[in-house]
Amino acid sequence: MSALFTPFTLKDVTLRNRIAVPPMCQYSARDGFTNDWHLAHYTTLARGGAGLVIVEATGVSPEGRISPDCLGLWDEAHVEGLAQIASAIKHAGAVPGIQIAHAGRKASANNPWEGDDHIPASDPRVWTPIAPSAVAFGEGLSRVPEAMTREDIARVTSDFVDAARRARDAGFEWLELHFAHGYLAQSFFSTHANQRSDEYGGDVAGRSRFLLETLAAVREVWPENLPLTIRFGVIEYDGRDEETLSESIELVKAFRDNGTDFISVSMGFNTPDAQIPWAPAFLAPVAERVRREANIPVATAWGVDEPHMAERTVQEGQLDLVMVGRAHLANPHWVYEAAKQLQIDKPDWVLPAPYAHWLERYRPTRTA
Ligand SMILES: Cc1cc2nc3c(=O)[nH]c(=O)nc-3n(C[C@H](O)[C@H](O)[C@H](O)COP(=O)(O)O)c2cc1C
Repeated sequence: MSALFTPFTLKDVTLRNRIAVPPMCQYSARDGFTNDWHLAHYTTLARGGAGLVIVEATGVSPEGRISPDCLGLWDEAHVEGLAQIASAIKHAGAVPGIQIAHAGRKASANNPWEGDDHIPASDPRVWTPIAPSAVAFGEGLSRVPEAMTREDIARVTSDFVDAARRARDAGFEWLELHFAHGYLAQSFFSTHANQRSDEYGGDVAGRSRFLLETLAAVREVWPENLPLTIRFGVIEYDGRDEETLSESIELVKAFRDNGTDFISVSMGFNTPDAQIPWAPAFLAPVAERVRREANIPVATAWGVDEPHMAERTVQEGQLDLVMVGRAHLANPHWVYEAAKQLQIDKPDWVLPAPYAHWLERYRPTRTA
């Protein structure tokens, strides 16, 4: 009996298995709008058999995009294209999720394949990023952001609310707030980025304020019967890991008590000097600790992409869901591959019928 291929129910939503496609930016939009690329990409992933497909980091405002080519949800006009994608994912049997995001001081960047750095000042598409404090990330992302005023903070919170409402209207059934990877919300929590002396900085309560206020405001508009989830970087690998992890777990408990249903455990990425111990499934024990101490279902990504390993993480109670990212880009039928390797009873059920018939059911006898 495979744990990975057991359904997972959260609120009124049931995933057909424990495999999720995490958000992965395509940097292929114009003015935030979806196009044929996004529709084909997400439909293909959902047809692959994952239980949940989460649409990439989608900017809550133009200035909150990582690059000018990120998707957006700051305008009602964005809803139609995303609704088509949510519907395509659902028709393929997966639950449609979306991550809404503000990139903070990492915004105004080039697409990764054009250089992992900020757009040069001479480029007409450039904008000045905003952040808790006027402190640059460093390395290629060296542009000094503008420190946010209280009005900026209130505006971004309300941008998250509007984006969440539009995500709901587009038919998404799983909302993920991007509170990870050194983007705006995560950077409020981080002492690497937040040097404010007002109520949005300083001690852990101050550094948590923006995240908790945004969660509370989004909770008001996101339906109670659908999962409201957070991707949160709980560890930096900057030499202060126990301190960061303990603070993070306390904040996860507060997220849980304020209406968060699920945590996608990730890293802070608030400093270019992090010493990350890259290895297959290295974050799974960290996620398990969050799960146990904060008593909330969790997932993680980062190299949990070998089927037997993925199975073990769920079987042993480290993870509730496994996020399989790049392996899905390499093989959109990763789930079928995993079903075969794990020798589940009927691997064909993960395939759409027009594929399953030929690959699993129809076995012509070969003659010489
Ligand atoms: C092309 C690409 C785009 C990504 N975009 C996002 C994103 O939009 N939001 C996010 O939280 N993580 C993003 N990530 C990180 C992935 O969600 C995932 O954590 C990472 O790929 C590690 O998982 P894997 O080892 O299964 O690929 C991205 C990763 C890739 C490869």
